[in-house]
Amino acid sequence: MSKYHIAWLPGDGVGNDVMEAAKIVLDTINIDAEYIPGDVGWEFWKKEGNPLPDRTLDLLRETDCCLFGAITSKPKDEAQKELSPEIKNKGFVYSSPIVRLRQELNLHTNLRPCKAFAGNPLNYRDDIDLVVFRENTEGLYAGVEFRPPSNVVFNALMTHNKMKKFKDTSLDDMAISCRIFTKKACQNIIRQAFTYAKEYNRKSVTLVEKPNVIRETSGMMVQEARKIAKEYPNIEFWETNVDAMCMWLVKNPQDYDVLVASNMFGDIISDLSAQIVGGLGFAASGNIGDNYALFEPTHGSAPKYAGQYKVNPTAILLSVKLMLDWLEEKKHATKLNQAIASVIKEGKIKTYDLGGSNTTLEVAEEVAKKFDQL
Ligand code: IPM
Ligand code: MG
Repeated sequence: MSKYHIAWLPGDGVGNDVMEAAKIVLDTINIDAEYIPGDVGWEFWKKEGNPLPDRTLDLLRETDCCLFGAITSKPKDEAQKELSPEIKNKGFVYSSPIVRLRQELNLHTNLRPCKAFAGNPLNYRDDIDLVVFRENTEGLYAGVEFRPPSNVVFNALMTHNKMKKFKDTSLDDMAISCRIFTKKACQNIIRQAFTYAKEYNRKSVTLVEKPNVIRETSGMMVQEARKIAKEYPNIEFWETNVDAMCMWLVKNPQDYDVLVASNMFGDIISDLSAQIVGGLGFAASGNIGDNYALFEPTHGSAPKYAGQYKVNPTAILLSVKLMLDWLEEKKHATKLNQAIASVIKEGKIKTYDLGGSNTTLEVAEEVAKKFDQL
């Protein structure tokens, strides 16, 4: 029996391309693992009305961790249109499989390192090295939404004095998405950020919220963060509003170490952070729970590039690196990171985003070759 059982979810679009790249590198690293493929993605939405079938969730529950490619997500109406005729109008509702996976498996912590690799011509600056901790299961992603709200929901809300403004709006003309925070999740994500900062000798943790306007949810996060920060006197604790953070990330990104944010704000600042170190082609992430974790590139499925082997595999390879770290295969993780860094530094084998014409798989082969030489 293999030491590790790893669920293998390519998804769709370029998810397949980058997972093939990951396999090339994993075959070279040769950890004692079995990779077990699972069904997920647009194809299963169209055929079954469920892009994340139960059998896939069961598979994940039986494995140690998961590597995930990418999945197409479309707004509600577009998704309905693409259902195959036999299952149209049967009440299927599309919801993002990755968001569901995070919630169903309670992968509460989304870790997104954004480091400028030496020699990457796409770096906005060469001295950026920050890590985003994004709360991963609640906030605006809780999925508690109403369109139109029912009378019961509307009447309950009418007890709030700010609802006066909406009293004459017809329910059909109203949509509500709830931003739900729990103290537990706030404490958890903040603690993860500080624990990481301590372990990796980072000088600061910056909380990115908006408590001056979103008083209750952001307010709770700030309150919990201030308490936890006191336990880490050697780490500076900074508080920044999300809008200002976007400005600072463009102005002085090198000043930041660890950023921590709720789900939606973390989503936004992680794309911005990715762009300043070369774009989504370089952005890896770990969705981490207490006993399970799923690793994925932050980029989407880019359907127009599907099957063309054009996209940069660095993001998935860095996700593999995070997976190896999580599996405590530290030596392999460090070596893989070095191999990726040296391919970028040499700048010979590169995908189109870097001005090259190599394929996704050629870059992976080069990383595998470098890994072998280390
Ligand atoms: C991400 C992505 C997802 C998200 C999408 C694909 C649902 O943008 O992982 O950042 O919003 O979390
Ligand atoms: Mg995102």
